[in-house]
Amino acid sequence: MLTKFFSAFYTPWHWVFHKHCQHLEGLMCFYYGEMKRRHKNHTIMENSITIENRDIPLLGLGTYGMTGESGIKGIVEAVETGYRHFDTAQMYNNEEEVGEGIRRSGIDRKEVFITTKISAYNLDPNDVDSSTRRSIEELGTGYADLLLIHWPTPGMDMEATLNAMVNLKEEGLTRHIGVSNFSAGMFRQAISLAPVICNQVEFSPVVSEFENLEVAREHNLMLTAYSPLGKGRIKTNALLTAIGKTYNKTAAQVALRWLLQLGHVSVIPKASDARHREENFAVFDFELSNEDVGKITSELNHDA
Ligand SMILES: NC(=O)c1ccc[n+]([C@@H]2O[C@H](COP(=O)([O-])OP(=O)(O)OC[C@H]3O[C@@H](n4cnc5c(N)ncnc54)[C@H](OP(=O)(O)O)[C@@H]3O)[C@@H](O)[C@H]2O)c1
Repeated sequence: MLTKFFSAFYTPWHWVFHKHCQHLEGLMCFYYGEMKRRHKNHTIMENSITIENRDIPLLGLGTYGMTGESGIKGIVEAVETGYRHFDTAQMYNNEEEVGEGIRRSGIDRKEVFITTKISAYNLDPNDVDSSTRRSIEELGTGYADLLLIHWPTPGMDMEATLNAMVNLKEEGLTRHIGVSNFSAGMFRQAISLAPVICNQVEFSPVVSEFENLEVAREHNLMLTAYSPLGKGRIKTNALLTAIGKTYNKTAAQVALRWLLQLGHVSVIPKASDARHREENFAVFDFELSNEDVGKITSELNHDA
C-alpha cells in the first residue's frame, strides 16, 4: 500500500534525479578518497611527519657553530623565518644559546621541536642521566623533544644506554629518544630494544644512506639528514644547479627537496647567514619531477 502510494509519485523525473544523486555520491566518494590519499601522503611529503602522535617539522635548523650572541640572534631570526625544529648537542656547547634564542623569540615552547644529543663519552647510564639533566638545564626549556645517542662507541652497552634514556623519557625530560650515526644494522637493533623514533646520519646527494632509509620506512620512523648540503659544497654542483634553473631554485634548495621527497627524511641544514636560512626554508613551494629525483639519485650518489 505504502509502496503503491510512493510509486504513484515516483515519476521518470524522480528516476533521473535519483540517478544523478547516485552519480554525485560516487563522485563525492572518489573525491573524499582521493583527498584522504593525498592527505596521507602529505603527512610525509609535506612539511611534517607524524610519529608517536607528534607532528615533527621535516625542516630543522642545524646549529653547530652557532654560539654566543650571534648564535642567539640567529635562532631568534630563524624562528621569525618560520623554523620550528632545532638541532643541537652537548658537544656543540651551544644548548644555552639555542634555549635563549627560542625564549627571546617569544614563541610558545610547545610550538618548537628541539633535539639534543648525548656525547659519546656520556653513554654510561649514570652519565646519560646526569649529562641530560645538565643539557635540559642549559636549554632552560623544561624538556627536550628528542634525545639522541650522538655516536655509538665500541664499548657501549646499547641496551643499558637506551634504558637510561627511556627512564628520562618516562620522567618527562625528553618527549622522544633516538640514535645518531648508527649503521642500518645497529638502527634495527636499537629499534628492537627501545622506542627509538629516529636515526640521524650524514645524508645528501653526495653521501647516500639508503639502507638506513629502508629501515626508517619499514618502521614508519624518521631518518634525519645531517650535513644535507654536503657542508656547503653542494651549492656549486653542476647537476643540481642545472635542475634548479628549471624550477627557479638553487642547488641547495634542490638538494633539500630531493631528500624531503624520498619520504621519512627530515633535514637540518646549518646556516648562520640569514639569507641562507631563508633560502633553505623555501623548499615547500615546488616539487621535483620523478625524473629529476631519479637523475639525482642515480647520477650523484655514492655510498658513504
Ligand atoms: N649527528 C652528527 O654527528 C652531526 C654531524 C654533523 C652535523 N650535524 C648537524 O647537522 C647540521 C648541518 O650539518 P653541517 O653544518 O655539517 O653541514 P650543511 O648543513 O650541509 O652545510 C652548512 C654549510 O653550508 C652553508 N649553507 C647553508 N645554506 C646554504 C645555502 N642555501 N647556499 C649556500 N651555502 C649554504 C653554511 O653557511 P653559513 O653558515 O655561512 O650560512 C655552512 O657553511 C649541523 O649544524 C648539526 O646540527 C650532526
